[in-house]
Amino acid sequence: MRTPILAANWKMHKTRAEAAEFVAALLPLVKDVERVEVVLAPPFTVLCRVAKLLEGSAVALAAQNVHPEPGGAFTGEISAPMLADLGCRYAIVGHSERRSLFAESDAFVARKARALLESGIRPIVCVGESLEEREADQTFDVIGSQLDGSLAAAPDDRIRDIVLAYEPIWAIGTGRTATPELAQDVHAFIRDKLAQRFGADAAQQMRIQYGGSVKPENVDALLAQPDIDGALVGGASLDAQAFARIVRFESQES
Ligand code: PGA
Repeated sequence: MRTPILAANWKMHKTRAEAAEFVAALLPLVKDVERVEVVLAPPFTVLCRVAKLLEGSAVALAAQNVHPEPGGAFTGEISAPMLADLGCRYAIVGHSERRSLFAESDAFVARKARALLESGIRPIVCVGESLEEREADQTFDVIGSQLDGSLAAAPDDRIRDIVLAYEPIWAIGTGRTATPELAQDVHAFIRDKLAQRFGADAAQQMRIQYGGSVKPENVDALLAQPDIDGALVGGASLDAQAFARIVRFESQES
């Protein structure tokens, strides 16, 4: 049985005061929620503050990015040991915005994932196709090669600690969500690839989130799919009420 994982990716949003206001509003709304994992990924500037505010709650802290080296002359970068020191339990790597805007390759993503695992942090590894790739029927090829490349450096005995996030680029921030069936097809493909590479047991235990315009209105249908084990939420995660409704998606309350 996989524990659903609902993660808020705030991207480049929220000051210290806004972050504190969000956490104060969210915690009472999710405190009685069981059998789901709730994760907040604020920007680096408020990680420390959010870590303190989450103390004593079940909500986990995540970073949005990491540099693969443990330390050194990398101006502007943050290492995995630094994130571990702040209490981060997860970190997002390979987000399509990093891949496209900052030219991050699968090999670079793979090094980040490995560095996180070495520091005891669970990577959330994102994959997803562009609209052109989908229209050219290349979705499975693209996702397959992103998976091969991004997981290339992960040690087999730690693979279960990795969370995958399928985020079709055409659905991110566009209000255009993949239909539950379309998302399920890709999730099933991802699980199949994981099974071929790491064995059926590991693949059954690994969680695969869907991301791309997840909102209170569509989360229930998405999470009802057998291979969708959670959501990585951008825009709708900036509002505590909306994110709390996503965390309390319907099937888990029945
Ligand atoms: P969105 O972003 O929910 O605003 O589409 C999702 C993401 O980029 O992780």
